[in-house]
Amino acid sequence: MGCGIAEVCVASGLDVILSDVSANSLERGLEKVHAGIERQVSKGKISSTDAKSASAHLWGSITFDDFVACDMVIEAATEDVEIKERIIRELDKVVKAGALIASNTSSVSITALATKMSNPGRFIGMHFFNPVPVMSLVEIIRGIETTDATYEATMALATRVGKTPISVKNSPGFAVNRILIPMINEAIFVLQEGLASAPEIDAGMQLGANHPVGPLALADLIGLDTTLAIMEVLYRDFNDSKYRPAPLLREMVDAGRLGRKTGTGFHSY
Ligand SMILES: NC(=O)c1ccc[n+]([C@@H]2O[C@H](COP(=O)([O-])OP(=O)(O)OC[C@H]3O[C@@H](n4cnc5c(N)ncnc54)[C@H](O)[C@@H]3O)[C@@H](O)[C@H]2O)c1
Repeated sequence: MGCGIAEVCVASGLDVILSDVSANSLERGLEKVHAGIERQVSKGKISSTDAKSASAHLWGSITFDDFVACDMVIEAATEDVEIKERIIRELDKVVKAGALIASNTSSVSITALATKMSNPGRFIGMHFFNPVPVMSLVEIIRGIETTDATYEATMALATRVGKTPISVKNSPGFAVNRILIPMINEAIFVLQEGLASAPEIDAGMQLGANHPVGPLALADLIGLDTTLAIMEVLYRDFNDSKYRPAPLLREMVDAGRLGRKTGTGFHSY
């Protein structure tokens, strides 16, 4: 997700620093962003001159110290609340006064994450969709302390990078994933109960509900680990059994079958 967000930001003329946990993963990430920009050229969406100038606005760093000059940092690390809290605390120490910090979390409370900042008013949720260069939506989620200035600057940024923002109240899973991820989880229950095969379930929802992608193929795209993490947040934070993750989803994650990113999920890649 971080690569996709970086790609749409550089393509809009913004200076971007991409970060990751190690030099190797950062290198892979930078390659992915450059490849994404090249793809836009081959699709005829941007000229090769624009692609060159966009690529020149992209840097990589494995230390947060390089974020000192940034106006905004968008956190898009693994969907794990402890990792996110640690990153936000570290970023808060290095960014300039007045810089905004956003999280691309799919489910975690923005109000809770904001408490890791010295000034929670500068924190907001900016939830992009996968694949970022293709999907137009961004959910903008205000925490209880998010200021109007932070909200307005984030709405403006979403528009600047070519997205359509919608404003959603802070609540587990926000709006779209509250609807989408339990639907995917139910499709996994249907598979687990042997009601139909994975290709049939996906074909059923494509042909019968006019979904562009079937729910199991979509889970593979999102990542089964991320899907499980979102269901766990919904289950825990609403304290409602209707959000219990399907045991088969947990088993797939335990087996390391995480979808497209590992080559195997409900389908093979
Ligand atoms: N996958 C989706 O479809 C999707 C859609 C919308 C939002 N999101 C959200 O975006 C975020 C990332 O999702 P993803 O699917 O890209 O996850 P991922 O697990 O595929 O990638 C996470 C990246 O974060 C890096 N990372 C982990 N710890 C880090 C740290 N301490 N510092 C810097 N980088 C670190 C990892 O090395 C990896 O490159 C999550 O919060 C997720 O909920 C995901």
